[in-house]
Amino acid sequence: MEVRQLKEINKSHISGTIEVVALLVEVKVKTSKTDKQYADLILQDTSKKIEAKCWDYEENKQFLNNIGEAEIVKVKAIVGEYQGQIQLTVKQISRVESDAVKIADLIPTSDWGLDTLKKGLQYYYEKVETPHLKALLDKMIFTNEYYERFSTYPAARQVHHNFYHGLLQHVLEVIKFAITIATTKKLSRRQQERLIVMGFLHDWAKIFEYKPLPNIGFTEEGTMLGHIFLGAHMTMKVMDEIENFDQDDKLIILNGILSHHGKLEYGSPVLPKTVEAQILHHADCTSGDIESILSFMEEQQESEDTFTPKLWNMGTDFYKKGR
Ligand SMILES: [Fe+2]
Ligand SMILES: [Fe+2]
Repeated sequence: MEVRQLKEINKSHISGTIEVVALLVEVKVKTSKTDKQYADLILQDTSKKIEAKCWDYEENKQFLNNIGEAEIVKVKAIVGEYQGQIQLTVKQISRVESDAVKIADLIPTSDWGLDTLKKGLQYYYEKVETPHLKALLDKMIFTNEYYERFSTYPAARQVHHNFYHGLLQHVLEVIKFAITIATTKKLSRRQQERLIVMGFLHDWAKIFEYKPLPNIGFTEEGTMLGHIFLGAHMTMKVMDEIENFDQDDKLIILNGILSHHGKLEYGSPVLPKTVEAQILHHADCTSGDIESILSFMEEQQESEDTFTPKLWNMGTDFYKKGR
């Protein structure tokens, strides 16, 4: 039976055979207790991610060893269930030419909609009135060179906001949370403007750290240098091109970018040294953590268990009832 999207596969299909086109995003070759090689696959489309087993690894070895980072595939599989989750057992798998399918149909996209995201971007941009801060945003976001990537990239490879436009959605969430704290605590107008700029730029370098979707993984630059250093480095370069860039703004914004992970052991080379940087760090955590919990619970919807499995980045399982 042909299914259009992965989310259509449900318990009524168990023991039946389905055919679906999806993106193959992970292949892990493993060895069974009987010393036979098999592959754990992850298939994904805009609707969901699903695990699949390929027991006939030997027969598909040639194909599975030569796939790119994300390959569009046609899969024929038997539907089963493992620990309450739908799991597929692959019978046939083959490559689909990319011009036969729209890649955007296979990659999850922010559910805010592009219009809302772009309006949000414009809204906060207009709140920044100080000329050199506005000039910094103009050069780093509103240029042909970066705008497209900044507004379409994901914010993470896994865990949170790992979808088309994810970076922009995450950035807008961070700014919104940060400004709520800043106005509640009556921070000055200049501090609020800095916070907006820091929110926009804190993960900006992810457009260099990650390969463009549907590729999955880090660029060489990303692996070697990371988005924290890259972001601070590029921002400092652009600040130096702007005439009379205020020195306090420069130090505070750069400290915000460098310290946004909050702790040295989380990859920040310095700690947040201003109230703005502390707010940015907390807003960043809130956006990332809450999104990861919500999307994890969404993924676990089908299982009838009361609790989700443990979500590794939060260190706990979550109660599913009462939603
Ligand atoms: Fe970050
Ligand atoms: Fe972030």
